[in-house]
Amino acid sequence: SKGIIIAIDGPAAAGKSTIAKRIAQKLGYTYIDTGAMYRALTHKAIQSNINMGSDKDLADLLKHTEIVLVPEENGQAVWIDGVDCSEEIRSQEVTANVSEVAAHSTVRHLMVEKQRELAEGTGVVMDGRDIGTAVLPKAELKVFMTASVDERAERRFVENEKRGIHIPLAQLKEEIEKRDRADSERELSPLKMADDAILVDTTSMSIEEVANQVIMLAEKRM
Ligand code: C5P
Repeated sequence: SKGIIIAIDGPAAAGKSTIAKRIAQKLGYTYIDTGAMYRALTHKAIQSNINMGSDKDLADLLKHTEIVLVPEENGQAVWIDGVDCSEEIRSQEVTANVSEVAAHSTVRHLMVEKQRELAEGTGVVMDGRDIGTAVLPKAELKVFMTASVDERAERRFVENEKRGIHIPLAQLKEEIEKRDRADSERELSPLKMADDAILVDTTSMSIEEVANQVIMLAEKRM
């Protein structure tokens, strides 16, 4: 068979993409990082001096932007208009502005359309905020992945240090809380656990343990 649809949602820095990548690799499925798509548009908007309060300006920009998620051995690269921007879309500036960009209706509509197309006819692991509630509500498996905010900030801190990026832990925690608040309180498809999602609290779990648990859940649904 072509495989099932696995939706992984949850707050910022909960380890969704790390787990989603692993599961996709293990099952031979397509991995789709929807946050990367909103980040790519935000990056381009910053570069192009677009008003991030304007749905129309952002939607026009998006229609003229080619965002491609390129599968790679250990994850996924993000190309914008033919240029690899995988690093750039993780910048502090993009992170600080992405929630505002992602709150607009036409922007979301266009993104969701593209995300559904990408998921057609293949086994897929898609991660984001509204995958189980709005993008792919018929997903065979929905996981809502979370961890305490202290744990999430700590993980992001360690990840940053490894990449040579030095941001104080307290600042990371504040940014994560702020982004979660914005994503949860917005009007359109807010971050919210779907009624039929399975809650996985990864606070005291290893990556291996979380990946194994999700794969077990997936296998029961195949
Ligand atoms: O997953 P990541 O942290 O890269 O997502 C960046 C931002 O993109 C989120 O904070 C949220 O504002 C937006 N997003 C969204 N819907 C998704 C995925 C991400 O609104 N499905």
